[in-house]
Amino acid sequence: MKDEKLEVLLTAEQIDAKVKELAAEISKDYKGKKPLIIAILKGAVIFMSDLIRQLEMPVEIDFMAISSYGADTASSGVVRILKDLDQSIKDKDVLIVEDIVDTGLTLSYLIENLSSRQPRSLKVVTLLDKPERRKVEFKPDYCGFTIPDCFVIGYGLDFDEHYRHLCDLCILDA
Ligand code: IMP
Repeated sequence: MKDEKLEVLLTAEQIDAKVKELAAEISKDYKGKKPLIIAILKGAVIFMSDLIRQLEMPVEIDFMAISSYGADTASSGVVRILKDLDQSIKDKDVLIVEDIVDTGLTLSYLIENLSSRQPRSLKVVTLLDKPERRKVEFKPDYCGFTIPDCFVIGYGLDFDEHYRHLCDLCILDA
């Protein structure tokens, strides 16, 4: 970790306020429903755990793990499911929770894959969006912060499995 500099982009307080805003919007939209909230491992775990505790309706939770693609597959959009859901999503209101949308490849693939399982509805909430780096068109239904093209860590996001525990979101200048 030597020689890596961190610069705070979003403080824990700013993130907390945004999570509450998102939760209020989601609670309004899902009033009277019991959505299945799916977190994409591992980065979205902290965001999911903060978000669901602010929601005003009952929820179910589940998790998926997706392979990080190498340089070749990044352009082809090939994404592999490493851990699938424990249950069927047929006729359920599904909300995918993601930490960050970057190229858009992961979520485009996931939406296509999960749509084929016939959920009643399927939406995405992401804490962060880096639209400058999109390779495929993708627009999340709910988004916390739009950020510039920089590599960020903390609040669940990692660099080589480090920094996930940080409360602030920081720019990594390696
Ligand atoms: P996408 O398929 O390129 O949109 O990939 C999204 C995934 O890439 C996220 O779920 C993260 O795991 C990872 N990722 C993209 N940008 C960052 C970043 O700035 N910091 C940490 N992880 C990132």
